[in-house]
Amino acid sequence: MTAEEMTPYGREAARVADRVAARYAEVAPAHQHSQIAVVERLLTRLPRGARALDAGCGTGQPTCAQLCAGGLDVTGIDVSEAMLAAARANVPQARFLLVDLLGEQATALGTFDTVVSFFCLMNLPEPVFVSALARFASLTRPGGTVVVGVPERPGDTPVEGLYGTYQPPRCTRQDLRRRAELAGLTVEEIEVRPGTGIMGAEEEHLFLHARPAPPGTSSSSARPASPSDRSG
Ligand SMILES: C[S@@+](CC[C@H](N)C(=O)[O-])C[C@H]1O[C@@H](n2cnc3c(N)ncnc32)[C@H](O)[C@@H]1O
Repeated sequence: MTAEEMTPYGREAARVADRVAARYAEVAPAHQHSQIAVVERLLTRLPRGARALDAGCGTGQPTCAQLCAGGLDVTGIDVSEAMLAAARANVPQARFLLVDLLGEQATALGTFDTVVSFFCLMNLPEPVFVSALARFASLTRPGGTVVVGVPERPGDTPVEGLYGTYQPPRCTRQDLRRRAELAGLTVEEIEVRPGTGIMGAEEEHLFLHARPAPPGTSSSSARPASPSDRSG
């Protein structure tokens, strides 16, 4: 996949992630403790050999490594070559592919017992966030589990990022639930855990636990706007 084949959102994410990949192991550990606890819990519910997709896997740490250690058959996808190079070195047991989760290529990945995605969707505007969740629903086998982690964003508080302060899109727990339902997911739980931002600030981390709605139900046939609708 080339940059031209990515959605505008994938291209922009790749540009940022390629820049940060070399520093990621140094800045991320504090940021990741909440997701480690969530994956620990997920692993108790999955048999060894279950197929897992980590969408926006970054360096493969901690999640792909943790899923492999739990005996799962793990595929990680990311738009950043630099992140994927680190992931292949960190977690040689997993399979890593350069795929934009929002793009058409992702539809060819097959289906998984679980699709997880941590700290990947938080800068997307709502319709594109919903498209990403709909994509996860379509990649998850009936009865399988989707787990998505994002920081809670009240919408009026600037956030300190690696490259300065910015105003991220709002994403409250109510927003996350509504977006999941719009995407055809049945929400089991929105778990709220204390977390740490990438620059060390205390924040709440939201973890959506959901299942694809059974085929034929009205929400499963809902199709949000395509992410490629955005120009530029
Ligand atoms: C903040 S990092 C988090 C990485 C990892 N999930 C973790 O928990 O450490 C976000 C990752 O998502 C990837 N990403 C963002 N948008 C993506 C997209 N549309 N398709 C695939 N990967 C994407 C970025 O390249 C980056 O590696």
